[in-house]
Amino acid sequence: MSMKKLLMISFSLTSLLFSFLYIIPTTTTLLTSSKIPILPLESNQNHNSTLPCFAYLISASKGDVGKLKRLLRSLYHRRNHYLIHLDLEAPEEEHLEMARFVAGEPMFQIEGNVMMVGKPNLVTYRGPTMLATTLHAMALLLRCCRWDWFINLSASDYPLVTQDDLIYAFSELPRDLNFIQHTSRLGWKMNKRGRPIIIDPGLYSLNKSEIWWVIKQRSLPTSFKLFTGSAWTILSRPFSEYCIIGYDNLPRTLLLYYTNFVSSPEGYFQTLICNSDEFRNTTVNHDLHYIAWDNPPKQHPKTLGTRDYRKMVMSNRPFARKFKSNDPVLNRIDRELLRNKRKRGSKPEPGPGPGARRLKNLLLRLMLRRNFVKKQCR
Ligand SMILES: *[C@@H]1O[C@H](CO)[C@@H](O)[C@H](O)[C@H]1NC(C)=O
Ligand SMILES: *[C@@H]1O[C@H](CO)[C@@H](O)[C@H](O)[C@H]1NC(C)=O
Ligand SMILES: *[C@@H]1O[C@H](CO)[C@@H](O)[C@H](O)[C@H]1NC(C)=O
Ligand SMILES: *[C@@H]1O[C@H](CO)[C@@H](O)[C@H](O)[C@H]1NC(C)=O
Repeated sequence: MSMKKLLMISFSLTSLLFSFLYIIPTTTTLLTSSKIPILPLESNQNHNSTLPCFAYLISASKGDVGKLKRLLRSLYHRRNHYLIHLDLEAPEEEHLEMARFVAGEPMFQIEGNVMMVGKPNLVTYRGPTMLATTLHAMALLLRCCRWDWFINLSASDYPLVTQDDLIYAFSELPRDLNFIQHTSRLGWKMNKRGRPIIIDPGLYSLNKSEIWWVIKQRSLPTSFKLFTGSAWTILSRPFSEYCIIGYDNLPRTLLLYYTNFVSSPEGYFQTLICNSDEFRNTTVNHDLHYIAWDNPPKQHPKTLGTRDYRKMVMSNRPFARKFKSNDPVLNRIDRELLRNKRKRGSKPEPGPGPGARRLKNLLLRLMLRRNFVKKQCR
């Protein structure tokens, strides 16, 4: 049996909840890769440890393994959980290299908190397969682990604060907050996103191809209001459960609607949370990412470099994107922002480093009434 097969996780869009998650086995436990304990699907709102923890999905494509390893090292903290999705398109050697890396890091093995999606998707840029991958990861992480917030990153992202800083800065926030940058002013997206109909062959074909455009266009929805925004979000556990379990039918209805929508990751969570009476008041209108755009904006954000360092730090944001592999600015970030890392094996005692203070300033500003309540779902 190939290693890939052993790491299989059953996946289908319609049975998100019935997937099993396997820990990446070490070389010696390869044949007995154990299923990790499945937690009851219930909210951990009442779990009252003062320190929160985070569940990360890190998505990577073909050729990203180098970036992925570096990102994982810089993000690692024993309290958190990490799920890696390496596109099915990446060659088998890359999947194996990543699996070996995860299995070879003693720290990851002790905590068992770094996992790989064993049966990954073909992810189509701008297609619903991106969203399917995110929802799959949320379902797996809800099922396996206790955490407070779900964070979605790509291999081109990088942190600007240590995980201790992040944990400390978030520790005084209500655990039900969702960081989702959004607006209902669709602008050019009304015609370029709201009306076109697309099909993503990645949902049913093993061959990678671009999305298909249907010639006919559709009208804008009238039974719910469309919102759009940044594809980078930090979602609370209660909202994640709502998305996955869908005890109200809205998450499912919108998922079906967004299947034929261009760039659904920029709209699904935004539209869902703003149309939900239960969750709209938990929305913080910010994505906590430093992302630089050309003026006028092009399709992809600018690649960040040393010239952006000061602005990045001044933004007080915990994450930035996007970076080239081993860009010199990453060394500077490591040295000047992430240096006060915990020593291996030491107690995860979060210390308010300079990063925590910067991030707290941003969070405090976002929680002011004029930035929080006044900017919700408008
Ligand atoms: C959570 O902890 C705080 C501080 O330790 C305490 O004031 C609060 O009552 C606790 N809440 C619950 C639900 O146990
Ligand atoms: C999650 O992160 C990826 C980066 O890998 C991004 O492209 C995607 O749009 C994000 N959002 C969702 C909802 O999938
Ligand atoms: C899909 O990919 C396989 C293997 O690369 C190839 O043999 C096949 O012809 C492709 N099919 C289409 C419809 O492109
Ligand atoms: C949300 O906020 C609005 C306005 O402040 C309030 O009327 C409503 O009851 C709140 N909803 C929930 C579920 O707390």
